[in-house]
Parts: sequence; C-alpha cells; structure tokens
Amino acid sequence: MLKTFYIETWGCQMNVYDSEKMSQLLKNTHQMTAVSNPEDADLLLLNTCSIREKAEEKVFSLLGRWRKLKAASPEKRIGVGGCVASQEGERIFDRAPYVDFVFGPQTLQQLPLFIQRLKDGQSHFLNIDFLPDEKFDQLPTPQTSGVSAFVTIQEGCSKYCKYCIVPFTRGPEVNRKVEDILKEVGMLAIQGVREITLLGQNVNAYRAIDESGRFFDLAALLYHCSKIPGIGRLRFTTSHPVEFTDTLIAAYKDIPELASHLHLPVQSGSNAILQAMGRGHTAQEYLDKIAALKAARPDLTITSDFIIAYPGETEENFMDTLRLVDAVQFDQSFCFIYSPRPGTLAASLECTIPDEEKHARLKRLQAKLDQHSLSHREKLKGTIQRVLVESYDHETQRAKARTEGNVIVHVNDASPRMAGLFIDALIEDVFAHSLRGRFLAIHDPYLDQRMSDHRMSKETNGAQSIEKNLRTSCESNNSCTSHSCSS
Ligand code: 5AD
Ligand code: SF4
Repeated sequence: MLKTFYIETWGCQMNVYDSEKMSQLLKNTHQMTAVSNPEDADLLLLNTCSIREKAEEKVFSLLGRWRKLKAASPEKRIGVGGCVASQEGERIFDRAPYVDFVFGPQTLQQLPLFIQRLKDGQSHFLNIDFLPDEKFDQLPTPQTSGVSAFVTIQEGCSKYCKYCIVPFTRGPEVNRKVEDILKEVGMLAIQGVREITLLGQNVNAYRAIDESGRFFDLAALLYHCSKIPGIGRLRFTTSHPVEFTDTLIAAYKDIPELASHLHLPVQSGSNAILQAMGRGHTAQEYLDKIAALKAARPDLTITSDFIIAYPGETEENFMDTLRLVDAVQFDQSFCFIYSPRPGTLAASLECTIPDEEKHARLKRLQAKLDQHSLSHREKLKGTIQRVLVESYDHETQRAKARTEGNVIVHVNDASPRMAGLFIDALIEDVFAHSLRGRFLAIHDPYLDQRMSDHRMSKETNGAQSIEKNLRTSCESNNSCTSHSCSS
C-alpha cells in the first residue's frame, strides 16, 4: 500500500517547483514511485491555485472525479495542497469527506510525516500553517535531468494589492538563505543545468545577509549565480515595479548571463486604476523603469500581466492601458478579467461593468498584445539567435531550443548531442508561438573553457605534476605566504 503517487499541478511556476519537491520527498523518504495516471496511483495529490475565479469549483470538480476512483479502489488516499487548501482549510473535508489530508504551500515539507500518518491508519488531518523557514530548511536537494531549472529564493508577498489573494494563501514575504540558494544552484549546475530561473512571488524584494555579514539583494544573487561554472543563462520571476532598483537595472549591463527578457507586470495603464489596486506606482513611473532598463540592455523584451474591468474601470481608463501597451510594445503577455477573491480588500467593491463589456475589453487588449507579440517574432526572421538546446526529436530530426526572449525554436541540422549547449541558430520561419531555424555554430563559452582546460591538462601534464608537488610541500610546511600559491 502507498507505493505509487500521482500529482496534479495547477497554477504558477512556484507550484510546479513545489510539486517537484513533493515528488522528490515521496521518492526519497517512502521510496514511492511517480505514475502518470491517477488510475494507477495509491496516493493522489492535488496542488491547487486560487489566483482567479472558479478555482474552488475546479478543485471540487476534480475531487469529484477522484472520489469515483477511490470508490472503486478504497485503499487509495487523497491529499489536497497549495493555495486553495490554504484558503479553504477544514471546509475541504466538509465538501469532500473522502479527502484524507490537507496541507498548505508552506507545509509540504511535512509530506513524509503525512504519509506515515496515513500508513498508521489516520485520516482527515490538516496543516496549513505558514512555516516557510521550516520549508526552506527541509526541502530535498534537487535532482533533475533537464537543462533548465527553477530555484525558489523567496516566498509570499507583503504588497497586499487589493485584488490579490497571494498574501493570504502564501503569507508574508520570507527570504531563503543565500548559502542555500547558491548551494542549490551549484548542485543543479553539476547535474548539467545551464539555465536557472530564480523564483519568488515578489522576487526582487529579496534581501538577506549571508553568514559572513554581506548584504545580498537580487542583483547580488544574480551576480554570484552567474559565476557558478556551467550556468550560462539566468532569469527571475515575478518582479514588482516598485522594488525594481537601480542596482537591479544595472545588472542588465553587468551580467551577460542575465537573459534579455523580463516579466514585469504592470496590471493597468491607468493611474486611477493603479491607485485603486494599491499598486504603489504610476504608469509614468513604470515607463521610466522600462526606459532605464532599455538603456542598460537595448534588446530587452518585456512581458506583463494585465487585469481588466477592475471595479470602476472606465473606457478612458482602459484606453490608458491600450496606450501603455503601444508605448512599451510588450512581448507575449497575459490578460485576465478581474475576479473578486474572497478575503481580499477589493472583494467587497461593486463592479457595474456588464459582462459583455468585460469580454469585449479582454478581446481588444488580447488582439493588441498578439499584434505586438507577432511583430516581435517577425523581427527575429533572418537574425542569428543564441539559443539553449533543451532536447532533440529523432522523428523530426530537430532540436528544441529557447531564445533569450523565451521563445521556442525548432532547429534543423542540429545533432542529438547538442542538448544542454548554447548554439547559434539562423531564424528562417516565424509562427504564432514558435520559430523555426537552422543550426549555424556552437556558441558556448563554458564548453570552450572546458575544452581549453582539457587541452591544457594534456599539454601541461608534466608541468602540473610539478605544481602539485609544490602545493603539497606548501600544505605540509603550512608556512606558504606566496600569492602565486592558491592552496
Ligand atoms: N483577478 C484577476 N486577475 C488576477 N491576478 C491576480 N489576482 C487577480 C484577480 N483577483 C493576475 C495578476 C497577476 C497574475 C498572476 O494574476 O495579473 O499578475
Ligand atoms: Fe499579488 Fe500584488 Fe503580491 Fe503580486 S505584488 S503577489 S499581485 S499582492
């Protein structure tokens, strides 16, 4: 019993990261095996998201399907985690009594304990406390076979934008230790990861002091990550415009590994709506940050999230958003109709915008965003892009790679051995959501470095053994003060 598990993940990249950690915990501590079908699993876990409307309904509708599976195989166990679990707590048992346990985003590290309780015959238990420090301390060391990985550096949010449920489901901002982050990035690099995305609900609010007393903000972390051998590309998400400091802007000048792509949600282009949302900045302040960023990195592409039909949004306010979209020319962005979230400050606001009008605005904004997105893609045609190869498809004989701007490129003339390498690709065709290109050359300073180290080690084998002898004699007499001696 409880040998296999299935995890269904909804929501943001943080949930994807959390589910990976859950999976590792179950494998490491109870030697459980992941399966890809709920029918085949002894343990069914649902990692939920509550950011927008109908989240709760979606959860109970999936649980209804799992109920039937459990009725057919009563030994199956069901756990519900994530933000809906944090928000609903005990109410989940009231509506779905066949659920065995409920845990929050900050208590998933206790999964091994929960499994033990299930094995001991217990049911209907819950822990949705905010224990981010415990979570950070008890997460397992990462294991991956991919070329890109996420690393959480910060959790929760203390901004309390009036529409947003995140501060209530994930708790206030908590930063992870510098040493733990750099160790995790190092472990991933050893496993062949070339691209790291630093994650946080408010990632640029990161502030920490390391064990030797040095102050670290996000810019300092990025700088240190960029020096870890093998790491060739860095991203971070999601940022807030208010904490987008000059040092972070300067990072785009100073750190070549930092990808020329930034997700910086603005939500609205109207000052009145930004104020009503409690965002803490104006449209012009956002535009000023973008101008400074573009000065530091001219080819930077920007993506954003937008909320439309926020209570009180007039046609003129909405037009301000369209004007801001034209001014920034965002790349692939997301827009959502405002949905009241229980417990948030905006939940009690009356919204008089008719549904047809909400949908019409969504369509107008989406059309504009698509148009800018396509024109960004079209500009890439005929250019040479440095892309990171993720995998190779033997059937189509194409490599799947990603540009700095996070666009997928299917590359002809590549080889299966290129996974994990940065290559130059000539972009020949443009599609709505991807590109097609042709392999031109390997373009990977880390590979060059490794090859030259390898050559050096062959050529200087003799010289190296002399150096090794010198080091040994330095270490043994312990009195070496020579600067040329690195031991
Ligand atoms: N209604 C609609 N969209 C929302 N978002 C957050 N809360 C709400 C809400 N109540 C959107 C924001 C945020 C993205 C992750 O989800 O645009 O940036
Ligand atoms: Fe939500 Fe605002 Fe925090 Fe983003 S910054 S997670 S929108 S409260």
